[in-house]
Amino acid sequence: MTDYNSNDYPIRATGLAKRFGDVKAVSNVNLEVMPGSALGLLGPNGAGKSTTLSMLMGLCRPDAGDVLVFGNAAGSLKARQATGATPQATDFPDQLTPRELLRYTAACYGKTPKIDDLAEQFGLQTLIERRVAGFSGGELRRVALALAFASEPALVFLDEPTTGLDIDAQDGFREAARAYVAHGGALVLTSHNWDEIEAICDSISLIDQGETVLNTRIDDMRVRANIKHLSFDLPPGTVPPEWMQATHDGRRWHMDAEDADSSLRRMIADNLPFQNLSLEPLPLDVLIKHIRKEGFTQ
Ligand SMILES: Nc1ncnc2c1ncn2[C@@H]1O[C@H](COP(=O)(O)OP(=O)(O)OP(=O)(O)O)[C@@H](O)[C@H]1O
Ligand SMILES: [Mg+2]
Repeated sequence: MTDYNSNDYPIRATGLAKRFGDVKAVSNVNLEVMPGSALGLLGPNGAGKSTTLSMLMGLCRPDAGDVLVFGNAAGSLKARQATGATPQATDFPDQLTPRELLRYTAACYGKTPKIDDLAEQFGLQTLIERRVAGFSGGELRRVALALAFASEPALVFLDEPTTGLDIDAQDGFREAARAYVAHGGALVLTSHNWDEIEAICDSISLIDQGETVLNTRIDDMRVRANIKHLSFDLPPGTVPPEWMQATHDGRRWHMDAEDADSSLRRMIADNLPFQNLSLEPLPLDVLIKHIRKEGFTQ
């Protein structure tokens, strides 16, 4: 058993900054992660996500700012005992099998891994006794993910976890991540896949050019910007009225409505002959753009 104070937040980071020579990788990152929650760390290539994760994991020391992991300094023994991780790039000793790697990793934490469960969760059943030399990219990624969970840590960091995974493995990973959080685990993951973020995370932290520009729960964003995406067909030659500001993608008509009920009433009042109407929440990336335009940061 680790003896960290589990009442403390898994992560509290304030004012993080990191330079590499002339490159300002991170200049002001602030974030918090609660127990039993998953935070998606988002931002374009080079925004500073991996550098931030390195500082949260205690692998690189911030030039400024503080990170507490369950109330302990990042990189301290107590912080490391509580943490599992899959970095963006991994490299394993060729001669070892996934079973040996899982045992070795868990042993570093004084634990015995639940090999069968991990193999099932991450699709390693047929690979578990094979040496990793010659594993495909996706197979290596499955091993790397299983290793993050091998010691049953209270906090897990995953840097682009599903890069290179096939669809079944991505689904398996989503299920494993959600189960981990449902059992009280805290997860921080980076991803460029919005569906994945929406499926796993309850909060997001958006980094742009090294700075935190948005920290919010996804639910709160959806309540704040209750915009719905409408799409529908129209008979050939029919065009929607100007007020709808609808666009056509070559197949269907689309519109984002702040008040979907009123828009629908007006479409009916205008006798618009729409068919196959669907009404969906805004995709996460569009929602974030809208929220940022409003200047909403907390
Ligand atoms: N060791 C290093 N030496 C020099 N520059 C670095 C180093 N590590 C990161 N950088 C630079 O810092 C910036 C942030 O890099 P980082 O890897 O954190 O981005 P990222 O958000 O993870 O991007 P991606 O989505 O491409 O993984 C980039 O401009 C990168 O080139
Ligand atoms: Mg990265």
